[in-house]
Amino acid sequence: MTSIKIPYAVLLAICTLLLLSCEKKAQTLAEAYADQFLIGAAVTAGDYQSQPFWKMYDEELIGNFNLLVLENGMKPEAVYSRMGVDSYNYKFGDLVADYAQARGMSMRGHVLIWHAQSPAALMKPQEGREASRASMKEYITAYVGHYRGKVHYWDVVNEAISDDWSDTYRTSSGWFKAYGSPDYITDAFTFARAADPDAKLYYVDYNVCESGKRERIVTMLNELGLVEKGLIDGIGIQGHWNLEWPSIAELQETIDTFSAMGLDIQITELDIDCYNGDPSVPEMAYTPELEKALADRYQELFSCFRRNSDHISAVVFWGIADDHTWLHKISAGRPLPSPRTNYPLLFDMKEKPKKAYYTVRDFRD
Ligand code: G3I
Repeated sequence: MTSIKIPYAVLLAICTLLLLSCEKKAQTLAEAYADQFLIGAAVTAGDYQSQPFWKMYDEELIGNFNLLVLENGMKPEAVYSRMGVDSYNYKFGDLVADYAQARGMSMRGHVLIWHAQSPAALMKPQEGREASRASMKEYITAYVGHYRGKVHYWDVVNEAISDDWSDTYRTSSGWFKAYGSPDYITDAFTFARAADPDAKLYYVDYNVCESGKRERIVTMLNELGLVEKGLIDGIGIQGHWNLEWPSIAELQETIDTFSAMGLDIQITELDIDCYNGDPSVPEMAYTPELEKALADRYQELFSCFRRNSDHISAVVFWGIADDHTWLHKISAGRPLPSPRTNYPLLFDMKEKPKKAYYTVRDFRD
């Protein structure tokens, strides 16, 4: 019988290929990124007359995520009550916290201090610094205390920086008006740290990859000494991006800037506006060309995230599927004259995985 001699290199190649094909393929996003960072999603829980997410999506789809955050149900106007801390509305946050804890998922708290969706009775813009400070201390102490051990990451202050170079801070904020200074930011982090020393505390904003805004955030951090005082753990980059902006270079520079300050980074509200922030573009169909453009965009973003996973602890999508996204009604931060179907997330209008989902999940690098 003639023996067939197979070169060693060929044998090795065959074994390697067999091994690679046997490598257990991740079945969910959370599994795929288990060694890199948490994968989160913003959800509804019946707040604002919404459908609770567990009734909208099946358990298997939700199982792609290991971190939850409420899109609206834990905002100041949804929780705060002028009747006092015993009347705060924790209903929606508790529903999500219970769901997350039952499944070993983490939770983000969105949001303690924000200029929007926040009652004047809480901020007390006309009553001066001491009244506003006392109100904030009572509110944060009760609110963060209630979620101690359940909410692991807090958006302590959201969007406090000016959108243009004329000023560092958003001086139109009711909190800024009450204090007459940005010191309300320091107080917010101080009170949150005291209420739950184990929670991780973030400053969050949009357009953080825009160099001017990024530098104004750095100015705020340095002026208030938040890092030196041990009051802040990370920066939340909202991630309301599009097919073109930001460039990977701008994203990398942003990650480098804040990681060099010893800060953790979370992408807290990721979605990709397929109209690139142009309200004038008529509604598009989800064409194969658009499907590929979205998959390519998510690929380059997640490749950057993976290269920087030492500095990124979570990437959170601002929704689960395209059937529920704020981007059907808003473009570049302004209401659209009429709803326009957008395709910003990894699951489509029928809650099925898109090409972008597989591109993000089945990475090979
Ligand atoms: O659902 C109710 C509806 O029943 C009611 O008739 C209607 C009356 O106005 O309100 C509806 O609630 C809306 C809610 O979304 C739920 O759809 C609110 O009006 C609307 O203001 C609210 O918009 C939210 C927006 O923040 C408010 O600023 C979006 O869902 C939410 O995705 C968006 O999220 C923000 C983050 O919190 C901060 N970063 C930016 C991001 C996008 O703007």
